[in-house]
Amino acid sequence: MSKRIMLCLAAFAFVFTVVGISVASNSGPAEIVLKTSTGKKPAFFPHKAHQDMMECATCHHTKNADGNRGAYVAGEEKACLSCHDDKGFKDNAHNLCKGCHKDGYNGKKGPTKCGDCHKKDL
Ligand code: HEC
Ligand code: HEC
Ligand code: HEC
Ligand code: HEC
Repeated sequence: MSKRIMLCLAAFAFVFTVVGISVASNSGPAEIVLKTSTGKKPAFFPHKAHQDMMECATCHHTKNADGNRGAYVAGEEKACLSCHDDKGFKDNAHNLCKGCHKDGYNGKKGPTKCGDCHKKDL
């Protein structure tokens, strides 16, 4: 094989790999405003900042055939309300978000005052 063809092939493989990765991984929005269906008390959630700190599986999971919580499957991150109702979402969110903020993660605590998540201008 000539050097030129080899270079072309290498460049092609490189482009393909880069495009492949960007299509395969969807990280979702960098910042999200979370709300129940009534939208009474929206919460600010810096998604990207949390992705940089912890595994996706800390928050995302699936549902098993028996209706119980299933393992995290990459690419199957769905809206929380697609499985949880408003009340369940509120309670789960408070347990998950506030719980970690209070206990801390890798020695770092997060904000726990109502207005820290339920910002006024959302
Ligand atoms: C600290 C919790 C947390 C972590 C960690 C996290 N996410 Fe999320 N993610 C959420 C929440 C909450 C939403 C909003 C879901 C909703 O709209 O109901 C979301 C939304 C998404 C969405 C959009 C889903 C949709 O269709 O509505 C994608 C995609 C996603 N996350 C991917 C990821 C990936 C990939 C990672 C790891 C690199 C990750 N997330 C880490 C909490 C988290
Ligand atoms: C595909 C369905 C599905 C999606 C989507 C989903 N959950 Fe769940 N989740 C469940 C099931 C089933 C359970 C177990 C029963 C229960 O506690 O409601 C559960 C449990 C939980 C628990 C309690 C965990 C425990 O072990 O006590 C939390 C917290 C939670 N979910 C948060 C979230 C958040 C936040 C999102 C959105 C980022 C989300 N869930 C999206 C199905 C889902
Ligand atoms: C497993 C731990 C963990 C979970 C789960 C978690 N957080 Fe956090 N969060 C943190 C930590 C740690 C910080 C502080 C980061 C820092 O100071 O650099 C933080 C910071 C924040 C901040 C402040 C960001 C800023 O710019 O001031 C907000 C708002 C926030 N989290 C909202 C949420 C919401 C909403 C959820 C649930 C959907 C959530 N967090 C889930 C650990 C967590
Ligand atoms: C760490 C972030 C965080 C903190 C701190 C927090 N919340 Fe929340 N809260 C959420 C998230 C996430 C939801 C679910 C999405 C939504 O509706 O905002 C929620 C939901 C709610 C809801 C349900 C809203 C509805 O539409 O049904 C109420 C009410 C609420 N919170 C009140 C409070 C109060 C009062 C405090 C202080 C004592 C507080 N929250 C502190 C994150 C937080």
